Amino acid sequence: MDVRDRAAADLVTTSDRRAEGEGGTTGRCLVVVPVLPVSAKPSGSAAPVPVRGDDARLDEAIGLAKAIDLDIAAAMAVRIQKPRPATLLTTGKMREIGLIAEVETVDLVVVDGQLTPVQQRNLETEWGVKVLDRTGLILEIFGRRARTKEGRLQVELAHLNYQKSRLVRSWTHLERQRGGVGFLGGPGETQIEADRRQLQERVSRIERDLDQVRATRGLHRSGRKRVPFPVIALVGYTNAGKSTLFNRLTGADVMAKDLLFATLDPTLRTVRLPHGREVILSDTVGFISDLPTDLIAAFRATLEEVREAEIILHVRDMSDPSADVQAADVAAVLSALDIDVDHARERLIEVWNKIDLMDTGRVDALSERCGKLPEAERPVMVSAVTGQGLDALLAAIEARLSQRSIRADVTLPPEDGAGLAWLYRHCDVLSRSDDQTTGQIELELRVPPQRQDGFLERFPGAVLITPEVDEPSNDATVALDETLSV
Ligand code: GTP
Repeated sequence: MDVRDRAAADLVTTSDRRAEGEGGTTGRCLVVVPVLPVSAKPSGSAAPVPVRGDDARLDEAIGLAKAIDLDIAAAMAVRIQKPRPATLLTTGKMREIGLIAEVETVDLVVVDGQLTPVQQRNLETEWGVKVLDRTGLILEIFGRRARTKEGRLQVELAHLNYQKSRLVRSWTHLERQRGGVGFLGGPGETQIEADRRQLQERVSRIERDLDQVRATRGLHRSGRKRVPFPVIALVGYTNAGKSTLFNRLTGADVMAKDLLFATLDPTLRTVRLPHGREVILSDTVGFISDLPTDLIAAFRATLEEVREAEIILHVRDMSDPSADVQAADVAAVLSALDIDVDHARERLIEVWNKIDLMDTGRVDALSERCGKLPEAERPVMVSAVTGQGLDALLAAIEARLSQRSIRADVTLPPEDGAGLAWLYRHCDVLSRSDDQTTGQIELELRVPPQRQDGFLERFPGAVLITPEVDEPSNDATVALDETLSV
């Protein structure tokens, strides 16, 4: 029995999932998923009760490590009865993992959980390699994927704050000794030898830069408010298929890869709905369980788009066995953004994605589950890859928007060309009849919520009709329009 076999006998799962040997990796790593008893979850963790299976957690941890191009030498779940304050693991487990790390000649051990600075230092000393915990790993991924200036600054700030909090408790005798192997020189990592004052100076500078970027961003946003397209925000667990759906609906080429967190900054495009109304579709960062609180705070600004959205599309990978747990994680992140999923029902549409990956039996079962829900909450089943269900999705978006629109009849004198132009620009014109004798124009309209005040002011004589929902047509035409800058 070799070292790994011996360790395997004692571990919950040892999946010797070797990476495919692609070139250009950041290094070789061992992924360790600590499985804590429910009551032993670290305090302060916002995560819901962990009902995710060990395999699902392993797969996710491997996905996270691959997202920063690590070559996975081995991955294992380790059941921990009682977390040790100094090392998290028992001495026996720590030694076993150390042996595997040695045999596999890894440069790094990823521990998919939160480690205290002391635990991290002790594990690094014991294993003789750098140790990255879940927060560190997520920060590393965010650092690589952030595309806009604001995104990069936010990640750098979160990274510095993370380091600073570690320095508070461990600076003198821990960080100075740590040295590491110069691995993953992310933001702040090269500053490990700097003192707290220097770190604080950088934090302050970044905060100033961020204020400036946000002020500019605020200007862009208010500029967009003047273009009154409703915003439809895509949210969902990382890898659910948001970017793929976004691309499919808009024809845009946003990075969609089988990499966790491929998207970090909202990307905006306009889409035309079946009846011709334009909406702005906004792709956002993927959500994940145990997202560090700091990071949620850091990304609040980026996710403002979601808070302000007219409609939130919650994209779910229904082919994933953890789909329901992921949905709970997404709800937790949304509530951290002050969006209560239950109260947001009227503006939330669940998009059950990846139906092409499921067999007919599963699809039928899901359809049945959908059918039992009240119409207003009924999810739309789609495949962002094959395009199946997308017409229904657009129709559902339109129907949902209509529910919040008012219907009105207006009669215009023939000389009011400006009024007519205004109505065509800002409302859905459902019918029009021109009186041949008087030249008067009678219009039946749907007025979107954000235009209602202006409409009532401009056309005080309008006759309002009790809201009703139109039957959407099937000839969905989706047009790629201009790209709006963030
Ligand atoms: P993050 O940026 O990490 O939040 O991911 P995302 O939610 O934007 O997911 P993305 O669109 O990048 O898709 C993740 C993976 O799932 C990619 O490999 C896609 O090709 C795949 N995918 C997305 N939608 C579908 C689908 O309907 N069917 C199948 N078979 N694969 C899909």
